[in-house]
Amino acid sequence: VSDSIAVIIGAGGMGLAIARRLAPGRSILLADVNKDLLAEAVKSLGETGGPVASHLIDVSDADSVAALAAEAARLGAVTQLAHTAGLSPVQASAAAILRVDLLGVALVLDAFEKVMAPGGAGVVIASMAGHLMPLPPEQERALASTPTADLLDLPFLAPDVMSDPGMAYAVAKRANVLRVRASFAAWGARGARINSISPGVISTSMGEAELASSTGDVMRMMLDMSALKRKGTADDIAAAAAFLLGPDASYVTGTDLLVDGGVVAAVIGSQS
Ligand SMILES: NC(=O)c1ccc[n+]([C@@H]2O[C@H](COP(=O)([O-])OP(=O)(O)OC[C@H]3O[C@@H](n4cnc5c(N)ncnc54)[C@H](O)[C@@H]3O)[C@@H](O)[C@H]2O)c1
Repeated sequence: VSDSIAVIIGAGGMGLAIARRLAPGRSILLADVNKDLLAEAVKSLGETGGPVASHLIDVSDADSVAALAAEAARLGAVTQLAHTAGLSPVQASAAAILRVDLLGVALVLDAFEKVMAPGGAGVVIASMAGHLMPLPPEQERALASTPTADLLDLPFLAPDVMSDPGMAYAVAKRANVLRVRASFAAWGARGARINSISPGVISTSMGEAELASSTGDVMRMMLDMSALKRKGTADDIAAAAAFLLGPDASYVTGTDLLVDGGVVAAVIGSQS
């Protein structure tokens, strides 16, 4: 593996699409909790670009995340990070969603802020769900600034309060945007940038499972209201990630890019 490494966490629909965009001429380190899916993804990427290494990881486990960051730094200069691993409301309980989508992102931001190369860039995949559910300001402040090890002890995240997976997902995804915004200084101190992307309804296995669930009708209604009236593709998200991870975004950090075909604009417009 050569000197400059792009780390992609999550080898699902978006992770693979981002890896395909970044792979030509670059070394990739791909990480996921699912061994079979990871092997499949590495095989398909091997046909398109430069060297691909893989690493099993559970993003909700601090030691596992630290081991990935150490492995990346051992392989070379970590110039790009795309964090795409996540669980959706049809896939998991509220508690598992908070561990993976909320704690997992905070752990990845902490671990990689220590290893990013100067001039490097990271992107975290949040969700439009985080834009559709405003939280009280004191909860937003707590999600942005509570030390990572104490995050899941916040009273409003307690299992008896936060038992609905859809609610847990929206809070976690809102937290992703807030944590990224709060990370700009630590990343900037290393000369690195960090941003998030909030996708709308995207046609990956996760997106299709949500569309097939009991919330599918609401999602279809939102797509009908939206400007572009279609689902997004994994490549729509990969294009945004390539921009944020590349030289054209060299003055963009600590912010969120909504890539949703206009769904949030339509929903918020219909409420005002
Ligand atoms: N698909 C959509 O419609 C949509 C919309 C908005 C946001 N998102 C977000 O985009 C991101 C990527 O989603 P996708 O559509 O590519 O989904 P996907 O299911 O195709 O990929 C997600 C990957 O995360 C991995 N993963 C799950 N738990 C993990 C853990 N504990 N540690 C490491 N890896 C783990 C899974 O194995 C899977 O490969 C997710 O964060 C998701 O919440 C998706």
